Amino acid sequence: MPTLLLYSILLHFLHSLSATSPSPIPSTIQLPRPLSTTGAVSVTDFGATGDGAHYDTHAIQSAIDACSPSSPSSSTGATCYVTFPPGKYLTATVHLRSNVVLDIQPGAVVLGGPRIEDYPKESSRWYVVLAENATDVGITGGGTVDGNGHLFVERFNSVKNVMVSWNATGDCLGDECRPRLVGFIGCTNVRVWNVTFTQPAYWCFHLVRCDNTLIHDIAIYGDFNTPNNDGIDIEDSNNTVITRCHIDTGDDAICPKTSNGPLYNLTATDCWIRTKSSAIKFGSASWFDFKGLVFDNITIVDSHRGLGFQMRDGGNVSDVVFSNMNISTRYYHPSWWGRAEPIYVTTCPRDSTSKKGYISNLLFVNITAHSENGVFLSGCKGGMLSNLRFVNVNFTYRRWTNFDGGLIDYRPGCQGLVKHGAAGMIMEHIQGLEVENVSMRWASGGAKEEWDNPLEFRPSSVNNVSFLNFHSGVYAQ
Ligand SMILES: *[C@@H]1O[C@H](CO)[C@@H](O)[C@H](O)[C@H]1NC(C)=O
Ligand SMILES: *[C@@H]1O[C@H](CO)[C@@H](O)[C@H](O)[C@H]1NC(C)=O
Ligand SMILES: *[C@@H]1O[C@H](CO)[C@@H](O)[C@H](O)[C@H]1NC(C)=O
Ligand SMILES: *[C@@H]1O[C@H](CO)[C@@H](O)[C@H](O)[C@H]1NC(C)=O
Ligand SMILES: *[C@@H]1O[C@H](CO)[C@@H](O)[C@H](O)[C@H]1NC(C)=O
Ligand SMILES: *[C@@H]1O[C@H](CO)[C@@H](O)[C@H](O)[C@H]1NC(C)=O
Ligand SMILES: *[C@@H]1O[C@H](CO)[C@@H](O)[C@H](O)[C@H]1NC(C)=O
Ligand SMILES: *[C@@H]1O[C@H](CO)[C@@H](O)[C@H](O)[C@H]1NC(C)=O
Ligand SMILES: *[C@@H]1O[C@H](CO)[C@@H](O)[C@H](O)[C@H]1NC(C)=O
Ligand SMILES: *[C@@H]1O[C@H](CO)[C@@H](O)[C@H](O)[C@H]1NC(C)=O
Ligand SMILES: *[C@@H]1O[C@H](CO)[C@@H](O)[C@H](O)[C@H]1NC(C)=O
Ligand SMILES: *[C@@H]1O[C@H](CO)[C@@H](O)[C@H](O)[C@H]1NC(C)=O
Repeated sequence: MPTLLLYSILLHFLHSLSATSPSPIPSTIQLPRPLSTTGAVSVTDFGATGDGAHYDTHAIQSAIDACSPSSPSSSTGATCYVTFPPGKYLTATVHLRSNVVLDIQPGAVVLGGPRIEDYPKESSRWYVVLAENATDVGITGGGTVDGNGHLFVERFNSVKNVMVSWNATGDCLGDECRPRLVGFIGCTNVRVWNVTFTQPAYWCFHLVRCDNTLIHDIAIYGDFNTPNNDGIDIEDSNNTVITRCHIDTGDDAICPKTSNGPLYNLTATDCWIRTKSSAIKFGSASWFDFKGLVFDNITIVDSHRGLGFQMRDGGNVSDVVFSNMNISTRYYHPSWWGRAEPIYVTTCPRDSTSKKGYISNLLFVNITAHSENGVFLSGCKGGMLSNLRFVNVNFTYRRWTNFDGGLIDYRPGCQGLVKHGAAGMIMEHIQGLEVENVSMRWASGGAKEEWDNPLEFRPSSVNNVSFLNFHSGVYAQ
């Protein structure tokens, strides 16, 4: 498939950055040509009503099954489009098949059902749209997939909504028992573009054990007050490219995780993010390694945490670049993870049974941040941070909400929330840190005494640190 070739050239180019010194990143990612098609069917030809009241599950599934070639062959790359004309298609879980792309047209909404019987038995398969072990699959068309999330709110609350839990069957526990919106599990050559995802009841977009995924020109609108309303969770997957995304949601926006295998080569560029949790978050599921990730040209607005690592389970992280970003982070209610840190890098064992992971070779370059709290860099004994570089980074520190500061956030697990004064950069358990062309600007007046400390570290736990062209100064508001 020619698209694959283009794609691996692109990946190779982007990932060559992580190993060496910074070099310019291409201003635009070249996208592969449109997929060649073998045909198209419309869900209305299979009896879909699109009236938003009747379930169209059977019609949609019949259209997908009819569209999918009986002997899928990824070597041809041929694709059949299942078209949804304008309308509202209420549905139980639909299963996407190999060589099929859902073509949800502008004005068309695929609407997830709100009942537990609308989803498969096992909670691990609760998605409105689910592709399992498929190749050459995707979603596009300019329309919307809607999870009906508001119907899962038991009590609306501006701090945090209280959600329905489908935990009665015992298949999943606690309050994280709701369906996700879209899932690709064990898939190859996934392409999702030009589509909007709204109102997920739980996580929005979930990639599990996938290889070669391209996501571009998508928008995600979750509910800002709904917990676990993640944007894109990339789990145990290789060779993922995300570009031109707009994510406005309650929980973590772009979230690589490792649960049952490693994650290699993830690139995310040209995105806009707002979240009440972390904009980019590694973990906290972190059992295996993360390697070769690039995040470039990303704008992070009014988020609780900008770039975050919550390594807790013994997986190691290496070779990650964050470049060309504007970040603004502020405090929200502390029941949400995050303490207004623009950059937060932590590795510590979740609990007494957990292993310790290392984090090495991180580069932060060309970043401007405005935030209510400083940077937190914390390894642990036996799980150090090593070879971290900050180049051309400007921090502006100012308080503009009334939430209390003065806490270090080790959650989840580890030491939890710990009382501790703020600093521009707090460092613990680090071997090798280079800071070059970094400035910290401090708002005068209104700045509390907790701010009066640019750099905090002890040579006994932080070794081999260099500061070149570091500037710190107060400015008048
Ligand atoms: C990650 O990308 C590099 C560079 O393109 C490539 O050599 C390597 O095979 C990729 N890793 C995986 C697991 O695909
Ligand atoms: C950082 O910015 C400088 C100046 O704009 C630019 O020359 C350089 O290529 C950028 N570095 C990266 C890694 O984008
Ligand atoms: C997908 O493949 C995995 C691994 O081969 C297998 O365990 C699983 O049952 C398959 N799932 C489906 C729905 O075919
Ligand atoms: C999205 O799809 C719509 C409908 O097919 C089309 O008009 C529009 O140009 C597409 N936009 C992009 C960015 O591809
Ligand atoms: C089920 O979820 C509810 C609501 O979050 C919670 O109060 C209850 O403890 C949970 N029960 C179990 C068995 O997890
Ligand atoms: C990702 O690449 C690693 C290293 O080659 C491999 O062990 C793993 O199985 C790959 N995962 C997938 C989903 O292809
Ligand atoms: C950065 O991303 C934005 C979209 O968020 C895009 O409009 C802009 O062209 C990108 N800039 C570069 C230099 O690629
Ligand atoms: C960051 O802000 C500067 C100044 O407003 C702007 O020139 C630059 O394009 C922005 N970059 C991103 C990634 O938003
Ligand atoms: C992380 O790296 C350490 C040290 O190299 C190694 O012992 C450990 O097995 C690695 N963890 C994983 C999950 O591979
Ligand atoms: C940081 O501030 C300096 C001085 O105002 C400016 O020259 C530089 O371009 C800024 N760098 C970034 C990445 O914003
Ligand atoms: C100190 O750290 C730098 C990179 O930050 C590394 O190149 C150098 O080898 C380290 N030196 C020692 C003695 O560890
Ligand atoms: C640091 O800033 C100086 C002066 O602006 C510039 O010459 C140098 O290239 C910068 N260093 C890096 C690594 O970008």
